[in-house]
Amino acid sequence: MKVFITRRIPQEGMKILSQAGVCKVSLWDSDEPVPRVELLKGVEGAHGLLCLLSDKIDTEVLDAAGPNLKVISTLSVGFDHMAMDEIKKRGVRVGYTPDVLTDATAELTVALLLATARRLPEGVVEVKNGGWSTWKPLWLCGYGLSGSTVGVIGLGRIGMAIARRLNPFGVKRLLYSGRTAKSYAAEVEGEYVPLDTLVSESDFVVVSCALTPETQGLCNKDFFSKMKNTAVFINTSRGAVVNQEDLYQALSSGQIACAGLDVTTPEPLPTDHPLLTLKNCVVLPHIGSATYSTRGIMAELSANNLLAGLQGTDMPSELKF
Ligand code: NDP
Ligand code: DGY
Repeated sequence: MKVFITRRIPQEGMKILSQAGVCKVSLWDSDEPVPRVELLKGVEGAHGLLCLLSDKIDTEVLDAAGPNLKVISTLSVGFDHMAMDEIKKRGVRVGYTPDVLTDATAELTVALLLATARRLPEGVVEVKNGGWSTWKPLWLCGYGLSGSTVGVIGLGRIGMAIARRLNPFGVKRLLYSGRTAKSYAAEVEGEYVPLDTLVSESDFVVVSCALTPETQGLCNKDFFSKMKNTAVFINTSRGAVVNQEDLYQALSSGQIACAGLDVTTPEPLPTDHPLLTLKNCVVLPHIGSATYSTRGIMAELSANNLLAGLQGTDMPSELKF
């Protein structure tokens, strides 16, 4: 069977595929995204596709693959880059990588939250450029978690792992919103509240929901206008959950205190983007799951998902949709 992989992936995954001896692998042998035309060529007649979150898997790609295609395995937990209705219609199975990246992503979210709220990037720059003249009582002050209210939008696997990590900092109230209340929220004393309540009462708003038609553009002008002027906004889900023009306005006008983003629209964010001119906006290059071990395990899992899809057996992590 023929498999196309859209990027270099950690060796752990490649090894599993070559040792299995059930497929002939062709790889876009680069750390950069496969050009669209090469993707369309590469999938031709493929039985399996191993893709990344940056590959748009739409009708055109599915048509290019043709009727052989049995399985798409994405090296991500997010699946907003794939046309799920079309994939379902064609009976193609989908594997993804939940759970194995939860800890790494939650950890990065906490790091980004602290870096943003306590202004670490600004401090580092001041040390390097001579702006550090002496200890000053009013200089580089930020916001602490102790006694605060934290609001998590989307208390799923990652949202819950973030809440578990933040609670020991002395968080007073943990609010969350989503489509349904979660019984497991009791572990972090989470209060299920309407989105408006979360937005207006939180000192830290953390976005960890999936990108869906309902969450697209959820954090817009109206949303930011309800936040406290002292509030910190963190997004490690997907860039498109945020209206970036509205975020820029909220940050530059002092409507909210600061923002930390691991995800943007587009990715990469152009270096001349207005958000990058702001001291109170910390932008990271989508590195939530980027630990060596996590990426290795993600590669293993996506290789095993792919093999199971090719062989028609149970997948370690199949997306049910
Ligand atoms: P889960 O499916 O466990 O959680 C997703 C959460 O989104 C659910 O709790 C769900 O709430 C919530 N959600 C869905 N629709 C809405 C809505 N309309 N309003 C509010 N919340 C909603 O996924 P994970 O926690 O594993 O991953 C979450 C996302 O994080 C991924 O989809 C991906 O986009 C992103 N991610 C980013 C990474 C990074 O590197 N920055 C790394 C890994 C993931 P409910 O159950 O109530 O519907
Ligand atoms: C995902 O898995 O969805 C992340 O964005 C990258 O790990």
